[in-house]
Amino acid sequence: TTTTAPTTDVVAYTVEDGIAWVKFNRPEKRNAMSPTLNRRMMEVLDELEFRDDVGVLVLTGEGTAWTAGMDLKEYFRETEKDGLKGVRKSQRESYGWWRRLRWYQKATIAMVNGWCFGGGYGPLFACDLAFCADEAKFGLSEINWGILPGGGATKVAVELMPFRQAMYHAMLGEPIDGRKAAAWGLVNESLPLADLKGRVTEVAKILLEKNPVTLKATKDAVRRVGVMTYDEAEDYLVRAQEAANSYDNDGRKEGIRQFIDEKSYKPGLGAYDK
Ligand code: ACO
Repeated sequence: TTTTAPTTDVVAYTVEDGIAWVKFNRPEKRNAMSPTLNRRMMEVLDELEFRDDVGVLVLTGEGTAWTAGMDLKEYFRETEKDGLKGVRKSQRESYGWWRRLRWYQKATIAMVNGWCFGGGYGPLFACDLAFCADEAKFGLSEINWGILPGGGATKVAVELMPFRQAMYHAMLGEPIDGRKAAAWGLVNESLPLADLKGRVTEVAKILLEKNPVTLKATKDAVRRVGVMTYDEAEDYLVRAQEAANSYDNDGRKEGIRQFIDEKSYKPGLGAYDK
């Protein structure tokens, strides 16, 4: 089944074969994140998160941009007119959907088709995996117009890149292309734009074969353990697996059965037959 949100919307989506293709849809403004877009994105994430026909969410952009970051006019200049109250509200609305996406129930993939600047690093990091076009351009452009990379962008740079690259990237404000973004760790892979959707579909299909309860537990574990000591992580992971078992004991037993008794697959090489 296919469900499509109206394309006049600032966020468009289609659900097809288990994959929700969600698009930043303000191509004429290079998909800059306005307060309206941020509010709509939160609604769309809500609409899709627990649907049985959605296993993977792909976030991409219409036109030449993934997203050109925060809308300098509507997000900054116009909300600042309302003073601190307006500023904080806009921040909550953008940070809110990025946080929601970081801990999303379903696996998420950023498919970066073009420009990705500043505030765009929030949703970029929020997605579990990221694939981009060689033609895409990434930049912490904040320094170029006079602010520091806020809204988590500095944190994202430091989380994803080695120290020297993060510092260079933040201080110089020079855009880098997709291949360099992959070499520096901002994305998993960069490939020609013409091949991007095919590769992302391939990855999404592999994710769709996995046990969904385990997939959620796994993505959360990878995000959580980074700030833990080894012992804390060990403890957390035991508990996280036990919590997952209580939702999905049968899946795990089936995975063991197909390997040990049936010898029908090898967990090292692929997923068991759901
Ligand atoms: N905020 C508001 N409007 C924007 C933004 C933005 N971030 N990015 C693009 N637009 C608008 C332009 O003002 C223009 O509007 P207009 O047609 O009404 O004049 C339209 O989108 C098209 O933009 P162009 O600059 O003409 O597009 P081009 O393809 O030549 O360049 C590029 C694309 C490089 C992305 C350029 O638009 C740009 O530098 N944008 C700003 C990028 C940026 O620094 N974003 C902020 C990051 S910092 C942060 O997010 C906190």
